[in-house]
Amino acid sequence: ALISLRQMLDHAAEFGYGVPAFNVNNLEQMRAIMLAADKTDSPVIVQASAGARKYAGAPFLRHLILAAVEEFPHIPVVMHQDHGTSLAVCQRSIQLGFSSVMMDGSLGEDGKTPMDYAYNVEVTRRVVEIAHACGVSVEGELGCLGSLETGEAGEEDGIGADCKLSHDQMLTDPEEAAQFVRETQVDALAIACGTSHGAYKFSRPPTDDILAIDRIKAIHERIPDTHLVMHGSSSVPQDWLEIINEYGGAIPETYGVPVEQIQQGIKYGVRKVNIDTDLRLASTGAIRRYLAKHPAEFDPRKYLQESVKAMADICVARYQAFGCAGQG
Ligand code: G3H
Ligand code: 13P
Ligand code: ZN
Repeated sequence: ALISLRQMLDHAAEFGYGVPAFNVNNLEQMRAIMLAADKTDSPVIVQASAGARKYAGAPFLRHLILAAVEEFPHIPVVMHQDHGTSLAVCQRSIQLGFSSVMMDGSLGEDGKTPMDYAYNVEVTRRVVEIAHACGVSVEGELGCLGSLETGEAGEEDGIGADCKLSHDQMLTDPEEAAQFVRETQVDALAIACGTSHGAYKFSRPPTDDILAIDRIKAIHERIPDTHLVMHGSSSVPQDWLEIINEYGGAIPETYGVPVEQIQQGIKYGVRKVNIDTDLRLASTGAIRRYLAKHPAEFDPRKYLQESVKAMADICVARYQAFGCAGQG
């Protein structure tokens, strides 16, 4: 059944687990996520980005998610809009039947101006007003995602792609977070704690203090009733990088967020863990390997099936690691 983000994360908070939120763009990702959730008895958050809407079209995404709910009626599903950039975008998603929207006002009205607090509060507050009237949950964002190693904002489909961030901007301030939540009434808050979007988070193997866990803890203590969201949570599996490169790919050395660090975050209030890149890597690796090994094969179902399997394995591992398995 389709439920709101607030409903799902209230349960996660009560029982102390985190829910991976996977980005969905196509049928294969959708099936992989549902098969994994079914196998592990986990609740599901699927999210559609602006890039996904551009690729598949909003109606296709909507029906893809509704089809999943129809095929797996026993699994609770949140249909979430990822990184909305305006009130209009969020309004449209609410109209389409999304049960949760993210209003990301963290980079200002033009998407390039970090720390425009007044704008962020105002636009997020207005989204909450409309969304809550419709029973839809809202995720806001305060602080700017960026790699503490490089100061790069990372890739987010145009959003903030070319902005350089200071160390301070890359860690959400607990006091400001409390004020933001009070003024906007968001259900969930995406915080900056050292992660960034995309495959290129860290250029060296991450140390076990690469995330600002103390900061997460401090924010959670200030706003215990607001569910914290960790964006840029892909772990960039080294085994899939190797497979991609073994079968014709050329991805340079790069590292993601260790799963153990995410588990630490969950211990201190992170309830929604956004993952996109890991499924992209697994899908690409599986397809490259299959096509290299079966050069005469041309039925797309053959290699797409490999992609589904590879992505489902990642989903299963995350459901288990985040304590989500058995909670569906
Ligand atoms: O937040 C970023 C997600 O990974 C979505 O990426 O805009 O390329 O679909 P995308
Ligand atoms: P990754 O690029 O680390 O998968 O993060 C995805 C994300 O945060 C989507 O909002
Ligand atoms: Zn994100």
